Formats: sequence, C-alpha cells, structure tokens
Amino acid sequence: MQYLAIGSDHAGYELKSILKDYLLNRGIEVVDVGTHSLESCDYPRFAHDLCVMIQNKQVEYGVLVCGTGIGMSMSANRYRGIRAALCANEYHARMSKAHNDSNVLCLGSRVIGSELALSILAAWLESVFERDRHLRRVNLIDELPNQNLA
Ligand code: RB5
Repeated sequence: MQYLAIGSDHAGYELKSILKDYLLNRGIEVVDVGTHSLESCDYPRFAHDLCVMIQNKQVEYGVLVCGTGIGMSMSANRYRGIRAALCANEYHARMSKAHNDSNVLCLGSRVIGSELALSILAAWLESVFERDRHLRRVNLIDELPNQNLA
C-alpha cells in the first residue's frame, strides 16, 4: 500500500501542486489523482477516485483540495470507511487525527493561504489516533446510521 494520494478540482489545482511538492520533498510518495490543469471540472470525480483508492487499500491516506474544501469533504464522507476532515487550522488537523482518526484531509484553497495549508498538512501528518474511547466513537459513526436501515 502506498502512503498518500492527493486530488483537487480546478480551484484547488495550484494549492495541490504546492502541497505535492512539499510531500515529495519530505520523501513521501504521492499518487496524484488530478485534476492536472486549471480547466473547470467537477470535484466529486476526484474525491471519488481518491476515496476508492483508500477503500481498495491502494493508499492509506488522502488530501483533497477545492475552493472551500466543503464540496470535497461532503463528497468524501459519502464513502464507507472514509473520515474526511475539513481543516482550517493546525488544531483541527491534530484533533481530526487524534480523536477522529481522519484518513482524508480537506483544504479550501480560497479560504486559507498556502503557508497555513502547509502547516495544517504538517500537523496532520505528524498526529496519531489516540484510540481508547475515541475508537468506540469512531466506530459508532458507521454503526449508528445502519441501525436505521429497515
Ligand atoms: C468551484 O468553483 C468551487 O465550487 C469548488 O472548488 C468547491 O469550493 C466546492 O465546494
């Protein structure tokens, strides 16, 4: 399994390139699922490709970028086993791993600058899931909605 995939729409394309360079410079292998230009495109398609890679255990983690980060996080959280966290600061990033075991980081390129985005990514990469009572809660995220299925 590779470590990390990254994806964006046109609005996130430039920030994705910056984040990708940072990851590569840190020696982290990155699978880029696109988009590969500034041409207008539909963010759910890239969320889909990245989340399916995680579900198929081709990669462990993902980073998704769109203008607000909202569309990407809404899309990614529809996929079983995906816990996508839209983060606007380092605290969000640390806690999304420590308490929520996030496996996808979502960022809004029109909301935060590239320096903050890099700090958020670094905090997220360095944080670990604390398990314990948080594991029970994370499991409930998947279990409780299924109880309503007739
Ligand atoms: C694209 O204009 C924009 O809607 C998209 O990047 C994202 O912000 C959607 O949530």
